[in-house]
Amino acid sequence: MAAVLRTRITQLLGIDHPILGGGLMWLSDARYVAALVNAGCMGFITPRSYASEADFRDALALCAELTHGKPFGVNLTLSHRPEANAMVPRWMDAALAQGVRIFETAGHAPAELIAALHRANAIVVHKASSIRHALSAERAGADAIALVGMEEGGHPGTNELPTMLMGALAQGQFSVPVVLGGGIGRGRQLAAALAQGLDGVLIGSRFLVCEEIRTHPRYKEHLLTCDEHSTVRLLQSLGSTWRVLRNETARQVQAIEQAGARDHAAFGDLISGTTTRDRCYAQGDWQQGMASLGPSIAFARRIEPLQAIVDGLVAEAVQAIAALRAITATDALDAMNSMEQKR
Ligand SMILES: Cc1cc2nc3c(=O)[nH]c(=O)nc-3n(C[C@H](O)[C@H](O)[C@H](O)COP(=O)(O)O)c2cc1C
Repeated sequence: MAAVLRTRITQLLGIDHPILGGGLMWLSDARYVAALVNAGCMGFITPRSYASEADFRDALALCAELTHGKPFGVNLTLSHRPEANAMVPRWMDAALAQGVRIFETAGHAPAELIAALHRANAIVVHKASSIRHALSAERAGADAIALVGMEEGGHPGTNELPTMLMGALAQGQFSVPVVLGGGIGRGRQLAAALAQGLDGVLIGSRFLVCEEIRTHPRYKEHLLTCDEHSTVRLLQSLGSTWRVLRNETARQVQAIEQAGARDHAAFGDLISGTTTRDRCYAQGDWQQGMASLGPSIAFARRIEPLQAIVDGLVAEAVQAIAALRAITATDALDAMNSMEQKR
């Protein structure tokens, strides 16, 4: 698909389409990120998914090979627990050594990380789930913002506001490019983000059924049966909201939470990431594990190459924009301008 939608984010990141694939724990590996990049988008490898730094370095090298010199990105998610961030500087150095210069940061207190990345001449897209956090990331130097609403699969923070409203609230508040995420799965929504004056979209859930995502076929087949009610937000009461697939584990977690549990230990292995990786993603037992997922999975109709999904999104966005032009009277802008002058 030709580069037909040019915005400040396509310019900043040197990509064809204003579409970013957000980092996906366990799933955004070299093959998937390379597929995003080769489809004209930007993707981010998640170092936390790898058992060792050496495995992460191998993934970086493989992604460089598969993208034939095109830039690709790395996701650095910061935990609110300092001990869980001990490896972040090493992952950053490993990525920089491989030539990576585009990073998606997410999570708690990113200012120091943004400064360190800038010292290495990297571009930082910071993902935030509230306007307040996004503005403070911009003040800390983020080069672009990914603003996510409560529809987001994974960890949308304590934000209760939907993506469409977040997009509208963002207008006029930022000087850096802003992309909108959470619940995006149609080209018309990309057109809507652009109509809101934003620079593109960030997608996770909709891409989970692409061929290049490495999960068990049974899991992908199950995702095709999901609709917009197939996900649930849990753990709000602990301040660590998590939007996941409605399955047996989610029901058990909900029951423990509703019974008054107030710390993570009460959930034991139910919320352990390796259960999701091993039982759900690797073995295809989709009833087991907390599988990050948002309602935009409802838009997934078939398992297909990522390129086909991206091309469909861009084509639909262009059609939507053309349809808007067709219903706009040719002299509409003149009429608006003269009304403005009279005010
Ligand atoms: C399976 C899955 C895993 C995710 N893991 C991470 C992660 O490790 N770090 C992160 O910053 N965001 C993570 N996210 C959030 C995505 O990067 C992205 O912000 C989100 O998927 C966008 O919302 P959507 O799912 O409604 O498209 C994850 C999302 C999903 C669906």
